[in-house]
Amino acid sequence: MQEEVKLIVDGRRIDGRLPDELRPIKIEAGVLKNADGSCYLEMGKNKVMAAVYGPRKVQPKHLADPTQAIVRYRYNMAPFSVEERKRPGPDRRSVEISKVSREALESIIMKELFPRSSIDIFVEVLQADAGSRTACLNAASVALVDAGIPMKGIITSVAVAKVDGVLVLDPMKEEDNYGEADIPFAFFIRNGKIESIALLQMDGRVTKEELMQAVELAKKGAMEIYKLQREAIMRKYRVEEEEEE
Ligand code: CDP
Repeated sequence: MQEEVKLIVDGRRIDGRLPDELRPIKIEAGVLKNADGSCYLEMGKNKVMAAVYGPRKVQPKHLADPTQAIVRYRYNMAPFSVEERKRPGPDRRSVEISKVSREALESIIMKELFPRSSIDIFVEVLQADAGSRTACLNAASVALVDAGIPMKGIITSVAVAKVDGVLVLDPMKEEDNYGEADIPFAFFIRNGKIESIALLQMDGRVTKEELMQAVELAKKGAMEIYKLQREAIMRKYRVEEEEEE
């Protein structure tokens, strides 16, 4: 018989968090000298790096769109980022994550301002512990701002899981592995307010009511992450100002 894993004991999760608590988050903007914009981000044990190039000339040229910029997003897991070595190179999972993440960001980038150009976003997962796609989206958003790409707002991403029958914010690996459902979200935030959902995926099973509650829980988490994204951007400009003085 499979041993039952208890994920919630006395209302606390295995890392001591309450159901509505995020993991500790660290965000640093402008960390790579050779990219137009960049961001290093930690969400719990996830460690990710985002680099943005552009708007720049499209390579190869035939992909250029005369009406707007093309946006490319590459999610990549380093071979050493997971417990069992990941084979280098793209796989079905990374292609799917890259596609849905790109679509979320594309919806807020003002592509029409830059015909015939490309905006390239690379995200590298250095260490993964569930929610790596959400960590990467949060880092990519900050890197896009750092690159000065005009956007209608910002994308902020967080997952909600159902574990031991309870909805929990920002699940860690054990909760993702043994939980009943995992629902990554990304929100479009404009003028400090959540305007819409830009990404919603799910595996597992929840009721309609639980899904509605999950949206609210994710929104709460997203607003907390959004504040940290803004702080990271402000901190970068403050450091640059101080260096100039
Ligand atoms: O990372 P995220 O939650 O966005 O994506 P997932 O496909 O739900 O994967 C959850 C977690 O499983 C990852 O964050 C990794 O910790 C782990 N994983 C792994 O160990 N090996 C892989 N090839 C893919 C994922």
